Amino acid sequence: MLHSAMPAVPPVSSHRTAVLGSAARAATEYLDSIAERRVAPSPEALEALAPLCGPLPSGPTDPEEILGLLHTAGSPATVANACGRYFGFVNGGCVPAALGAAWLVSAWDQNAAFRVQSPVATTLEEAALEWVRELLGLPASCGGAVVTGATMANFTALAAARHALLERAGWDVENDGLFCAPPLTVVVGDEVHSSLLKALGMLGLGRNRVVRVPVDNQGRMRADALPHLDDRTILCIQAGNVNTGAFDPAAAICPAARMAGAWVHVDGAFGLWAAASPQYRNLTHGFEMADSWATDAHKWPNIGYDCGIALVRDPATLRASMSIAAPYLLQGELREPSNYNPEMSRRARGVELWAGMRSLGRTGIAGIVERTSSQARRFAAGLRAAGFRILNEVVINQVLVSFGAPEKTLAVVRRLQDEGTCWCGSTVWQGHTAMRISVSSWVTTEADVDCSLAAMTAAVEESS
Ligand SMILES: Cc1ncc(COP(=O)(O)O)c(C=O)c1O
Repeated sequence: MLHSAMPAVPPVSSHRTAVLGSAARAATEYLDSIAERRVAPSPEALEALAPLCGPLPSGPTDPEEILGLLHTAGSPATVANACGRYFGFVNGGCVPAALGAAWLVSAWDQNAAFRVQSPVATTLEEAALEWVRELLGLPASCGGAVVTGATMANFTALAAARHALLERAGWDVENDGLFCAPPLTVVVGDEVHSSLLKALGMLGLGRNRVVRVPVDNQGRMRADALPHLDDRTILCIQAGNVNTGAFDPAAAICPAARMAGAWVHVDGAFGLWAAASPQYRNLTHGFEMADSWATDAHKWPNIGYDCGIALVRDPATLRASMSIAAPYLLQGELREPSNYNPEMSRRARGVELWAGMRSLGRTGIAGIVERTSSQARRFAAGLRAAGFRILNEVVINQVLVSFGAPEKTLAVVRRLQDEGTCWCGSTVWQGHTAMRISVSSWVTTEADVDCSLAAMTAAVEESS
């Protein structure tokens, strides 16, 4: 009786084949045509999203129709991150192996929380974490987690720091919280990334309850201006300033900090990957002395969204801050991702990391670092030659340019974004309004740089 009242189950396999075929065709068509379209979506493309909103239909919709809607209305409304002329934020692209792996991972639909739920995701995540550790030149003892991005990687690593320092002080922060806990001091550079402050806020350590160290004219923490450090201090340094790309002088900071018993954490969201390149590795000298590191694979290594990595010198501290137990959670002797991770259920993004890194290899990752940094210098040289002021020393892939008065620079950025050849954002850095150029994609070519330079000069003329 009950069975006859149930709606009929659709014919799964034929539906699936058709839907996956449509998805593959749409994705291929999208990527094949991306170089010809404007980078920011047009106002018309955004208006065309309206039919996708509205009330949830009362009955089912054919999945192929949905894919069709997504492609015809959704694809034109995307920001063409994958085109090679997107220089906003620090957005990387996605190498084909990581993209293909992401499709397969979605088909696998693995829950990467515990080994028993996905031995393959657990194994590949561990292999990839080890590759990252080695490539970044970090200690062999490290353990870590694959998370959504550097914000969560900062959060994860700083949770380990909080645990370690409070445990030393005889306080069990995971069980007893922070009320009445011995105070910790968090020291950051004055140009700390806002996401690290957010992580501190989420950890109860406070966004404003930090000691800020003055920085130099590139945004680097001044080693000579460090405050008193002790074994209740978390010192956060930076490998890659989001505006200038500059690196804090880790080699001058870390030995004294470690001697004082402080925990040193590195926000290396993109900059740490410079260690992959023999040409740029010297910039990361000294960062290996820290206790924890946060980085992103969706930025410079072009693994696709989303993929952040937290690494901790003593993984026991991370485990102590993240592990949970319940009778139904079957845990073996080996590493369980959930015990090192703020999430329990999670997608198997470690597989995409594994696939992307394996496809690039050491030289491929070094190549992206070197190519994009040289393209950043090409941007700087071209803009300088056109008479504009480059505000930063272009050490890696970040360029800051001023087109004159703040209003003028902002008008140029708006014009450039509207025109659509490329996309750059704006910033205010050390009192100067600037356009930020972040060259982060594996597909960017010198021709992309040159036609973007032409679009920039045109935008300057058109915004006068
Ligand atoms: C230095 C630094 N830290 C943290 C972040 C935050 O990264 P995510 O957006 O992956 O959380 C960024 C983003 O650009 C960054 O540049």
